[in-house]
Amino acid sequence: KRLAVFVSGGGSNFRSIHEASIAGSILGDIVVLVTNKRGCGGAEFAREKGIPVIPFPKTKDEPDGVPPTDLVATLREFEVDFVLLAGYLKLIPVELIRAYPKSIINIHPSLLPAFGGKGYYGMKVHKAVIASGARFSGPTIHFVDEHYDTGRILAQRVVPVLPEDTAEELAARVLREEHSLYVEVVAALCEDRIMWRQDGVPLICSKE
Ligand code: GRF
Repeated sequence: KRLAVFVSGGGSNFRSIHEASIAGSILGDIVVLVTNKRGCGGAEFAREKGIPVIPFPKTKDEPDGVPPTDLVATLREFEVDFVLLAGYLKLIPVELIRAYPKSIINIHPSLLPAFGGKGYYGMKVHKAVIASGARFSGPTIHFVDEHYDTGRILAQRVVPVLPEDTAEELAARVLREEHSLYVEVVAALCEDRIMWRQDGVPLICSKE
């Protein structure tokens, strides 16, 4: 399968998916990287690996950013099958969601539907989890719809929130799980191991 990854930051999830793809544990290739921050670590890594980088959307910092319809056309040119959001902080335009039904997934660093939505990104998520007194947190991978963090949940992992945790410590514990969970889910996606329950909930089938 042919994968597009979207990043805004360091891109550690992108790196681990790339590594798994090179190692052959994901039967897919990252053919294009999309970013709203050309200078971010993720974009830097893509250039090092010879993966084409597309700026999106157009902003003051990214005057060369492509319009949504051109982005869809570009992904089609690259014959992209799946879009993986990995720390991409902008809303996905409806044009793209319509063009790739059931094919766009995101990773979020809390157990959705808790601590999700527009204001919840980066350290804010982990600070809110700690402030709430919740004893568990962990990453969620979900399909993407027109809103932030509301699409169908596909996979989750649980980690403890320890009494003395700082947001940074909790973030690191969650991020470690993100890397292996994302690789597992993308491997399933590339092997067509996602089944849709009648009520619309997606399930991952294990390998026989
Ligand atoms: C991760 O915590 C992810 O859940 C969130 O943004 C962070 C991205 O980290 N959406 P990285 O850029 O993959 O290192």
